[in-house]
Amino acid sequence: MALGNIIVGQSGGPTSVINSSLAGVFKTALDMKEGKVYGMLNGIDGLLHHQYIDMTERIKNDLDVELLKRTPSSFLGSCRRKVKPEDYEDIFKILNELEIGSFFYIGGNDSMDTIKQLSEYGNKIGSPIRFMGVPKTIDNDLAVTDHTPGYGSAAKYIGATLKEVIRDGLVYSHATVSVVEIMGRDAGWLTLAASLAKGEDCEGVDLIYLPEVPFDIDKFVAKVKELHEKKGSLVIAVSEGIHTADGKYICEMAASDRMVDSFGHVALSGTATYLSNLLAGELGCKTRAIEFSTMQRCANHLASLTDINEAYAAGAMAVEAAAKGETGKVVIFKRVSTEPYIMTTETYDVNAIANEVKNVPLEWIINDGTGISDEAVKYLRPLIAGELQPVMVNGLPRHITVKDC
Ligand code: F6P
Repeated sequence: MALGNIIVGQSGGPTSVINSSLAGVFKTALDMKEGKVYGMLNGIDGLLHHQYIDMTERIKNDLDVELLKRTPSSFLGSCRRKVKPEDYEDIFKILNELEIGSFFYIGGNDSMDTIKQLSEYGNKIGSPIRFMGVPKTIDNDLAVTDHTPGYGSAAKYIGATLKEVIRDGLVYSHATVSVVEIMGRDAGWLTLAASLAKGEDCEGVDLIYLPEVPFDIDKFVAKVKELHEKKGSLVIAVSEGIHTADGKYICEMAASDRMVDSFGHVALSGTATYLSNLLAGELGCKTRAIEFSTMQRCANHLASLTDINEAYAAGAMAVEAAAKGETGKVVIFKRVSTEPYIMTTETYDVNAIANEVKNVPLEWIINDGTGISDEAVKYLRPLIAGELQPVMVNGLPRHITVKDC
């Protein structure tokens, strides 16, 4: 089955390797020499406003492809838009005008809802357009797949930066307590990566709190006090999504007015600030709040080579699957073995993935909800392996953007 003209979009929160998946889609489709390769600007939101580019006018040669793999965040821009049935006709009209044969969307569980809805509607009206999902999210919370592209690099940044924060936190003879806030909304996969800091040359973080376990503020303060009396300086990792047993986010205790996106997700941040202020009062020592914020998802200079390669492979496989006629599917990873690390790719029904959230297995959370098991660390290690040297110009990494190339 011919691939036809293709269109690709990026959606949801960016990662440092989402452009490697874009490169995988672009290069694989281009090499098939079947038609045009369009990129929608700002995902489905932009497409609905007729905003797209011919990607060959922007990515002109193999060097540009290499730069794309080394450029963080979403080259084509992103959106957090939930497609509605009233959008279907407009979307299909635009796709038909462009004579699109295959549609690719690189995103997380919310973005896969777009693939689910459009492939269902396409089937209903007998459209030949194929819709394929390419997985991405630093949150690593997609169902079915072993992990998602973007996660390994964010985990590497968290592990590496925490090692540095721990070294910095131990320099003074007086004690400092640092609370580090890590993204991940309602799944603790990213905060799990705080466990990577521990090794021969590093003590590791003292306490780790994931959203899978309800957060009890009194127990937290008591635990920190006890450890602080014993050890002095501490580094504590908390997920942005930690919440009390009745579902109230800790960050909401600092400020209750929060943005909510079209999928109903509350904007989370401020957890570390709230807890570090609380601890300063309780412990009477210097405390510090550190939010890794967007840095953990755009630190391409510290990306995992494994992640970059897998992100590319996911994009390439989506194109190959569409060329075989598949639609309504998402590329997933299956772990064959951890030591040695062997991963395979397959495609899977989008219905099992769209809008679903996969949480960290509870047996990986130990020490009364404050530590991570060795099994979890074993799962993580291969995902952060390897580096890809950035192209350095004037001492800084070179990127490629839609505007300047
Ligand atoms: O896409 C996942 C994510 O990075 C979450 O970990 C985080 O809560 C959210 O995005 C932040 O979204 P935004 O970039 O829209 O503020």
